[in-house]
Amino acid sequence: MSQYTIRRVDGSDRRTLDQIMRLFDQQLGLGTGPGTRAQMLQDLADPAFAAFAAHSVPPGTVLGAASVRLLTAEGYRRLAATLPPDTLPAWDDSGRPGLLDLIAVDPAHRGHRVGKRLLDSLLGWLRGQGCRDVYVLHWPSFPGASSKPLLLSAGFTVVRSLPGYWSSDPMDAGSRCLRCGRPCHCTADLLHLPLTPSSTGRTTIGSHEEVSESSP
Ligand SMILES: CC(C)(COP(=O)(O)OP(=O)(O)OC[C@H]1O[C@@H](n2cnc3c(N)ncnc32)[C@H](O)[C@@H]1OP(=O)(O)O)[C@@H](O)C(=O)NCCC(=O)NCCS
Repeated sequence: MSQYTIRRVDGSDRRTLDQIMRLFDQQLGLGTGPGTRAQMLQDLADPAFAAFAAHSVPPGTVLGAASVRLLTAEGYRRLAATLPPDTLPAWDDSGRPGLLDLIAVDPAHRGHRVGKRLLDSLLGWLRGQGCRDVYVLHWPSFPGASSKPLLLSAGFTVVRSLPGYWSSDPMDAGSRCLRCGRPCHCTADLLHLPLTPSSTGRTTIGSHEEVSESSP
């Protein structure tokens, strides 16, 4: 592998979508089926949601993908309801916080900064939306390669550790934890990153801007 590009995912690109779903299913254990795919299509149609994929150049195979959403007041309230009281600050009408959704890189292509570039793309998109706070739930016991080093190197800090995060709120039908199966007993860590309007030079990622990188 020598080069890859990162592009925003378009719901009409079914080939990319199929590859992303397969990657997420295999690496994150989300379960397969039309429910998950339909959900992804629905999310992609939402302007408050963005997914980016890294494609090899050539032939365009998906090497990694990541997604993020801007929370509404209701979404923020739902997230807060899964957390101990006062974990999150009160909702602030001046800006919608972001919630990192999923990130996975094909095991054969890890360690080449694909994950970092995908995360940069998500954060660049959030900045472009005027987002000033971004949250992510991380799973310390997840059996795959941890995303924590990636998140910490991007400046995220742990807000709180949440044992048995899904215990009182079962995972969606069709989802299956790679470690526990169902139900999931994993601990989650909530991480936070304050976003500043300026960034490391990658602030202008628009709907289809491409970023090329060489990997060793
Ligand atoms: C987490 C993941 C996306 C990282 O992708 P990647 O392309 O290998 O990561 P990168 O090469 O961009 O690494 C970025 C930084 O994180 C560090 N890093 C990444 N994975 C690491 C690991 N397992 N251990 C230590 N450091 C790691 C890199 O050293 C690098 O740091 P640097 O910028 O200071 O050099 C990938 O390992 C993965 O798909 N894991 C399984 C899926 C998963 O757990 N997703 C999170 C749940 S949604």
